[in-house]
Amino acid sequence: MRALEDDLFPSTPGKVKIERAGGAMNRQLHRCFASTSTMFLWALFLVAMTASYLSFQSFVDTSSKYFQASWGGLHWERQIRSSAAPRRPPGSSPNAGISVLVTGAAGFVGAHCSLALRKRGDGVVGIDNFNAYYDPSLKKARKALLASHGVYVVDGDINDARLLAKLFDVVPFTHVLHLAAQAGVRYAMENPSSYVHSNVAGLVTLLEACKSADPQPALVWASSSSVYGLNDAVPFSESHRTDRPASLYAATKKAGEEITHSYNHIYGLSVTGLRFFTVYGPWGRPDMAYFSFTRNILQGKPITVYRGRDHVDLARDFTYIDDIVKGCLGSLDTAGRSTGSGGKKRGPAPYRIFNLGNTSPVTVPTLVAILEKHLRVKAKKHVVEMPGNGDVPFTHANISLARHHLGYKPTTNLDAGLKKFVKWYLSYYGYTRGSSKSL
Ligand SMILES: NC(=O)c1ccc[n+]([C@@H]2O[C@H](COP(=O)([O-])OP(=O)(O)OC[C@H]3O[C@@H](n4cnc5c(N)ncnc54)[C@H](O)[C@@H]3O)[C@@H](O)[C@H]2O)c1
Repeated sequence: MRALEDDLFPSTPGKVKIERAGGAMNRQLHRCFASTSTMFLWALFLVAMTASYLSFQSFVDTSSKYFQASWGGLHWERQIRSSAAPRRPPGSSPNAGISVLVTGAAGFVGAHCSLALRKRGDGVVGIDNFNAYYDPSLKKARKALLASHGVYVVDGDINDARLLAKLFDVVPFTHVLHLAAQAGVRYAMENPSSYVHSNVAGLVTLLEACKSADPQPALVWASSSSVYGLNDAVPFSESHRTDRPASLYAATKKAGEEITHSYNHIYGLSVTGLRFFTVYGPWGRPDMAYFSFTRNILQGKPITVYRGRDHVDLARDFTYIDDIVKGCLGSLDTAGRSTGSGGKKRGPAPYRIFNLGNTSPVTVPTLVAILEKHLRVKAKKHVVEMPGNGDVPFTHANISLARHHLGYKPTTNLDAGLKKFVKWYLSYYGYTRGSSKSL
């Protein structure tokens, strides 16, 4: 081996030395290079492994955030079936036996509708992700109330396609009452993606599940009066423009109206969209003005009252929860059938949109005066100009269409409705008359 090497090099000593040294160096370098490239490959391999581990972890984190596997199993399926089973005496109504999947069932409107459906003997299963947009303990309390009436609420996200498919697998729901959404106009400036997550992506996931279900359910869902946006023709009628939303929330609700239309058109889903006007009442939403005003007034804190341009008072068509519930149940009862099956349309299906309001707007200062009367406490008002944050100066519903097609007729005025709300609030938060402490 050595001889062979010697023959390869010329006999000039210095040169040889150098050349030999160069050769050794070359070999060293070669080895070194070979080991560096091996090390490089190992490093690359390690980086790739770490990256895939991290992305898997983040996938698991993201998924588990939305899709915690808190569902499944025989016991779970039994609970779902029992909750979904209608209990109306046979022949008691033309719609005896409807079985409704209520999304957002632990929410304000969802809990009231679920309870009303159950009370008249319908089958109800709820789904809610119990997010922390407002105090989740209120949502848990609503869930407990529903459980005490035999309504089961699944803790899950409407973006979880597997969960939805499973629910439709276990129960042939006749109707879906879709109320889950990211609500609130101002919060859209803080957390815009939550609106896309629930009101757009979640809606599409739900529609996909409805489209594929056999039988296809009829869908009744909550749009919003906010779709009227910059429209200033009053009262707001379903034929008015809705292409100028004033907030991202409104834009996602408007998108929902178009998206549901496409599922109606392509797959034959029966769709009814309801434009609610400022719903209030017991078990309400803490982010809404009437609720936070009540809390602050009782705690002796100032309340911020917004005023429109030129000192014009803001006004809302406040609608009492029981009236909204009647509108939702009326919509379920009159929703025609979906016509599709196996993801294919077999004929035209109804597509309807209704305003559900009260038709008598009340200004915010009047709302405050009514609260002061029922709470027997004077408010510390801080009046400021309305900031440009997505709110509109007034809402006012024309409800002739809902009256005609659903028999919708609101019966509770703001004074009577707030009286009931205050009674609930004081009892729920543990106030005794004359005390101003909150538990
Ligand atoms: N209350 C009103 O004045 C009013 C006015 C117009 C429209 N609406 C609409 O009516 C519906 C009900 O409103 P509400 O006042 O009861 O609100 P809410 O926030 O009390 O109820 C919505 C429920 O949906 C749940 N939810 C949100 N995203 C979800 C998701 N991705 N998966 C599963 N659950 C999810 C929430 O946890 C909440 O419990 C909403 O669609 C809302 O946009 C309400």
